[in-house]
Amino acid sequence: MAEFQRWITPLQRSTVEPLPTGGAILHEDIPHGIDDIGPLLYSLFHEHWHQVQLSHVVEGSVLELEFSGKPKICILYDGYLTIVTETWHGHLCLEEHGGGPLKTTPEKLRMERRIQRASLYRRCNEQGEARSWGIQFWNGGGEKMMTLFLPNPYVTDLDEDLLPEKKPQIEKLALFNSLREIYVLGVQPIPFDSNPLKRPYIAVCRSSRCNPSRNWQPTFEALEQAVAAAGLDVDVMSFGCLEVCKLGPVVHVAPDQTWYTRVTPEVATQIVQTHQVAGQRLNSHLYPPTPTSR
Ligand code: FES
Repeated sequence: MAEFQRWITPLQRSTVEPLPTGGAILHEDIPHGIDDIGPLLYSLFHEHWHQVQLSHVVEGSVLELEFSGKPKICILYDGYLTIVTETWHGHLCLEEHGGGPLKTTPEKLRMERRIQRASLYRRCNEQGEARSWGIQFWNGGGEKMMTLFLPNPYVTDLDEDLLPEKKPQIEKLALFNSLREIYVLGVQPIPFDSNPLKRPYIAVCRSSRCNPSRNWQPTFEALEQAVAAAGLDVDVMSFGCLEVCKLGPVVHVAPDQTWYTRVTPEVATQIVQTHQVAGQRLNSHLYPPTPTSR
């Protein structure tokens, strides 16, 4: 694995996207590798969630989602960033999505789905004055994906338009300016020592499709106890589905992209000791099975 770099290499790529109704969007591209975009998104959703809105905009349709609290979950699973709040959840493909343990996603689709371009943008009126600020993502097919709206000095927190009074709250541009210094200009370091989205975690599926008894809690508790006993800094969590859907309880170990099935509490302890502590896979419960584990 490449060593994490706290300083980005500026792309120095700016483009102007003319708007059909007048004005233009000024894009400054930012690196979209997982060690650049991962810390960026993690910091926005963990620390600045109250300042960002998540949006999807295409001609004829606009969806805007606000955070009413810090997301309950913000993790990377099989290439997708998953964000779960009290009332909604969303996914954004940051890395290659294999399609679960059997790697069912066709090669072409893997390239199309993931982010292939990202920009910090300013949307300007016909006079060239910036009137909204945000981050735009594009997929491998060149389509606009999610947009993140950043604080706007011309709009109050109650969505009141300040333009008539001409009293913009310029201090609201602090987040945009700080992101620009880190991810566009590269004059400030990324504020993490490692990629927070590559933090290790172990997830157990709580659905009934793979485990009809839904008796996943003993496995979950055994994982928690084994992680604590080993003194590991590893999150243990439960998930809705881990794309195996049989032979439960099913467990996924990240960031190693490893799936285990038939994980009883005893096996859960072995997984922590063998995989997490000793750095070896527990072949007897790997999914898909290896020739030696059948
Ligand atoms: S339902 Fe458990 S892995 Fe899919």
